[in-house]
Amino acid sequence: MLRKSLVVANWKMNGSLASNQTWYTRFLLQKLPDIDIVVIPSHIYLPQAAEYLKNTTIGFGAQDIANASHGAYTGQVSANMIKDFGSQYVIIGHSERRSLCQETDDLVAEKTKLALTAQLHAIVCVGETLEQRKANKTKDIIAKQLNTVLELCKNDDLAKLIVAYEPVWAIGTGLVATPEQAEEMHLFIRELIKQCVSSDVANNTRLLYGGSVNASNSANLFNKPNIDGGLIGGASLDADSFLQICMTAKR
Ligand code: PGA
Repeated sequence: MLRKSLVVANWKMNGSLASNQTWYTRFLLQKLPDIDIVVIPSHIYLPQAAEYLKNTTIGFGAQDIANASHGAYTGQVSANMIKDFGSQYVIIGHSERRSLCQETDDLVAEKTKLALTAQLHAIVCVGETLEQRKANKTKDIIAKQLNTVLELCKNDDLAKLIVAYEPVWAIGTGLVATPEQAEEMHLFIRELIKQCVSSDVANNTRLLYGGSVNASNSANLFNKPNIDGGLIGGASLDADSFLQICMTAKR
């Protein structure tokens, strides 16, 4: 099994030209571990990411794309547009988009298909709410979210599919899933991919954990065999703490 660790900084709607510049300058001075590291700023700052990250090993990408390639979609940004600025990655179906922008499983699946067709690494987010976990519905919810995507995309090239398990109750709350809870769900997700697609794709797909990861809890999460890295929100805004998290992801 040779899945390379991947740690992704999801900056959400944070940052500015000046603060991003400080982050890049500080981060790029450090000796980086031999893992895949990706920065996801807001769309508007993609040209800046391209400028600072060219000739480095750090990838970058966007937080969302439209579910259409072009046309009358005021305010939307397409897969090819983010590619135009050098993006290699895109986050799809983050829980904040599902809850704040009413994104459905079908919409997330359509966007994933467009991202994969554009040869982007699609980081598809799935996760249950606290109520769903308490009602013992976690696996049903994850299965529905992920299977909708897999059913639509199973005949596409899935080499660039990445799945992020992000329990909604853990995002931005300081309530991190235990390594055992996360590993259980990652194993379940790998099994879903195996059932719907193939063992090969299941074994090769990187599964990230996200939700209140920080420099003190990341090592225990990343030590689990099915946790291939993390999607980091709050703790990625500080270059030093993001670097510390990246250091703990080396296998
Ligand atoms: P958090 O966010 O690390 O701030 O909990 C993670 C995410 O939403 O991707």
